[in-house]
Amino acid sequence: MGKFIIKGGTPLQGEVRIGGGKNAVLPILAATVLYPGISYIHDCPKIVDVFTMIRILESIGCRSKWEGKTLIVDTSTASSFEVPPELVSEMRSSIILLGSILGRFRQIKISYPGGCSIGPRPIDLHLKALKQMGVQIQEEHGYILCQADRLQGVKIHLDFPSVGATENIMLAAVLAKGRTMIYNPAKEPEIIDLQDFLNCMGAKITGAGSNIIVIDGVNQLSSVEYTVIPDRIVTGTYLVAAAISGGEALLHNVRPQHLYAVTAKLRETGCIIREENTKMHIKARGSLQGVDMIRTHPYPGFPTDMQAQMMALLTIAKGTSVISETVFESRYKHAEELMRMGAQIKLEGRTAIIQGVSRLMGATVKAEDLRGGAALILAGLCAENETTVCNSMFIERGYEHIDYDLQALGAQIIKIRDEEGR
Ligand code: UD1
Repeated sequence: MGKFIIKGGTPLQGEVRIGGGKNAVLPILAATVLYPGISYIHDCPKIVDVFTMIRILESIGCRSKWEGKTLIVDTSTASSFEVPPELVSEMRSSIILLGSILGRFRQIKISYPGGCSIGPRPIDLHLKALKQMGVQIQEEHGYILCQADRLQGVKIHLDFPSVGATENIMLAAVLAKGRTMIYNPAKEPEIIDLQDFLNCMGAKITGAGSNIIVIDGVNQLSSVEYTVIPDRIVTGTYLVAAAISGGEALLHNVRPQHLYAVTAKLRETGCIIREENTKMHIKARGSLQGVDMIRTHPYPGFPTDMQAQMMALLTIAKGTSVISETVFESRYKHAEELMRMGAQIKLEGRTAIIQGVSRLMGATVKAEDLRGGAALILAGLCAENETTVCNSMFIERGYEHIDYDLQALGAQIIKIRDEEGR
């Protein structure tokens, strides 16, 4: 895999446009399967996870092509309901195809996604809900085989507001018979985006973003043209980039309201943030202050996907800061790498106690997951000398061109490709 080399110490200054959101576009791409025809997805990010999703769609017979930032997907030729296991293991969120392939073909064969570097990724909530909708599920030799003569709308209560489970239920319910109600669903902005996309296709869904989502099954859908919401985690990452470097940045094409939990904490560190429609400006003011407690939580709580980046920032903030990771079991791999750069972090179960230091030192560190990897780049921006972040592909799963974006903000960062050009 390639690597990023960062020369730290330059306060960032500049402007960047934020592209479409990874976690919004993946379920939308899955949703295209529901309608046998053409969908136009505007502002589709060219990231590794999207390329993997395209390969999965092609493996079941769909066709796609890019026109600039628009991805055109033709699912009329889809004929298979089997998702290749090697692609599922590349991207665990491919489980999001359960709902849409079931909706279209009434059956699916997909391998069990298993765990990943941020902890176990169970899908019990997905399967329990689908069973309630009349799906027969067999689990054998690492595969899940689902089959339903017909999908029936029901009332489903989620024990935990799982993002993926909420999306799978919505996708399965669109063409089901009758009304499906999801109680305690995830409320993430990406859920609202999926609702909006499906409604543009002709679905009848209300309530996304609230405590109950209501889906009235329809008989058929139609072709759709849709623009994906901007990526709130990329936005948050670049806000932290400006802050950690002691600089400033103006971000375009953002939704400030999707980031209130993050901007509240950045303000606690002493940053000045201005929001105006679809723009956000951040400026670091003097030295950063630590924060008492960041507790990750489902939306609108502090996003677990911003935990690593915020930890990088807090390593150089004055005083002691505490992070509590409540969403995923083991999401602190980046802490060890940050410590190799001179950070003082104590891990106790799901809690991280960070004692701010005056500076980090450049080192060779390893990205082990997407957001943890981004956090290491951020640390490199403020570290003395040079930092090498290996395993660039993990980061490129969710950032379209983090090197170019940070260069546009004045950072000294380059990507070195491996022998295979990755
Ligand atoms: C999505 C996001 C991911 C983000 C996460 C939490 C996508 C593609 N990925 O992942 O970036 O970090 O939301 O905001 O949108 N759980 C169960 N049983 C289940 C399902 C989930 O126990 O059936 C648990 C998980 O182990 C985890 C927690 O619920 O501890 C949150 O998972 P979930 O909200 O489902 O996250 P994902 O949809 O996998």
